[in-house]
Amino acid sequence: MSFISEINRRRTFGIISHPDAGKTTLTEKLLLFGGAIQEAGAVKSNKIKKTATSDFMEIERQRGISVSTSVLAFEYNGIKINILDTPGHKDFAEDTFRTLTAVDSVIVVIDVAKGVEEQTEKLVEVCRMRNIPIIVFINKMDREGKDAFDLLDEIEQKLGLRVTPLSFPIGMGYDFKGIYNIWEKNINLFSGDSRKNIEDTLEISDLNTEELDILVGKTSADTLREELELIEGVYPKFNKDEYLNGTLQPIFFGSALNNFGVRELLDCFIEIAPKPRPKQSEERLVNPEETKFTGFVFKIHANMDPKHRDRLAFIKIVSGEFKRNTPYLHVRLNKKLKFSSPNAFFAEKKQIVDVSFPGDIVGLHDTGNFKIGDTLTEGEILNYQGIPSFSPEHFRYINNADPLKSKQLNKGIDQLMDEGVAQLFTLELNGRKVIGTVGALQYEVIQYRLEHEYGAKCTYENLNVHKACWVEPEDVKSEEFAVFKRVKQRFLAKDKQNQLVFLADSLFTLQLTEEKYPTIKFHLTSEFK
Ligand code: G4P
Repeated sequence: MSFISEINRRRTFGIISHPDAGKTTLTEKLLLFGGAIQEAGAVKSNKIKKTATSDFMEIERQRGISVSTSVLAFEYNGIKINILDTPGHKDFAEDTFRTLTAVDSVIVVIDVAKGVEEQTEKLVEVCRMRNIPIIVFINKMDREGKDAFDLLDEIEQKLGLRVTPLSFPIGMGYDFKGIYNIWEKNINLFSGDSRKNIEDTLEISDLNTEELDILVGKTSADTLREELELIEGVYPKFNKDEYLNGTLQPIFFGSALNNFGVRELLDCFIEIAPKPRPKQSEERLVNPEETKFTGFVFKIHANMDPKHRDRLAFIKIVSGEFKRNTPYLHVRLNKKLKFSSPNAFFAEKKQIVDVSFPGDIVGLHDTGNFKIGDTLTEGEILNYQGIPSFSPEHFRYINNADPLKSKQLNKGIDQLMDEGVAQLFTLELNGRKVIGTVGALQYEVIQYRLEHEYGAKCTYENLNVHKACWVEPEDVKSEEFAVFKRVKQRFLAKDKQNQLVFLADSLFTLQLTEEKYPTIKFHLTSEFK
């Protein structure tokens, strides 16, 4: 197969949702369709159950599982599908944000009863910022939930999306009769008896056919006709270009657990979802069809074995072919590296591969050369645009608890930050180190890993910070900026990229500071240029 055909047949995407909406279940059903797994239950959930939120042994166990589910690749109708796994637990939201830099599209799963939840809002916002094409799957239609139209309104308002249903439910919960597939113009009946079996898809080209009344009952059939008329009148028609540039989002309904509506989703997905997309680097836009290899690190996974500090760096291939045992330039280090055993991922298995193509993810064994965001090329100096950091929610000083091990501690902190476990801020005033995290859970992970992987001990001290704000002065030489730096000296820090950050202790302080220094901008993300 030619290089171009290999690119054209790849679809690399992520499934995002609030925990418990059904991401793991949907992933598993997609894999079943691809024949990548033989039975349900084969994909282990890598979510950390609520009951175990403070149990770090559980985290270690889960880390092991999530290596194998980091990328799930399978073939379906000649299409190579790469699903990038995103952690469901909100304390690991940063991981998910980073994974979103490596996907070409996403499927958002929403629980019909719960509607749009907090985590979904945040994640969709990141997708919108990056114009990532989105398909929404409304799950658990076998349960009582919100009215479909209300839910569409909620999605439009809370997520800021412009939606167009490509399928529509007939009833819901106890009364759930099936789904009308607007995309394929057919009907899929949910068996009323066992609530488990699915009847075959029935072609319904004319909605006024009496057959529909017989199949779902006159009342339901009439309701469906009215609803579809409403959809046609109110919602925009599906347009592939609008979907691809992120301005229109198709909606599907179904029940992942019952494998209902999933095939329709997948069939539509492979037809409309984008093949690997061009990616912006600081220097230029890079097209997947370019023959020279380029790629970037979006995730680093520490190995489970504490004796060997080797890690797996996940590279998304942006252009060209990535070949085994070929020297590539590590741009940040200006060093040529070659990799004798790059891993590709097939369903739950890892396997050494000789060649990978744009859209694919390879896992490279790493002994500390890689940081998240690093770029590999065949020689060109190219830096894929930084992966943004968002303001953490929690802040603590980190102290050395064993003075003889300060070297180990510093090395450990450095490497864990490179992996993206948390963010490090160094105070301008006294050089003290502050660790910022999305969830309190990470502090335990860091402490545990510093001890077990680096032999270092740490303690924490609370620090009252509301948000970390990246500082952007209109003019670095202005008097106003000089005053700001002097007055706020105690609250200024540098992040790992040496960018200036203001640690605001309350929303009030932040607002006051913004008013007082109007020529300085305060951003909640490091990516603002
Ligand atoms: P997540 O990865 O998004 O966190 O969700 P996951 O797939 O683990 O699903 C969360 C729960 O919702 C699971 O139940 C799962 O069985 C259930 N679920 C998923 N899809 C559907 C659906 O279409 N209908 C119904 N009724 N339930 C669904 P659990 O009891 O938490 O876990 P388990 O013991 O079944 O694994």
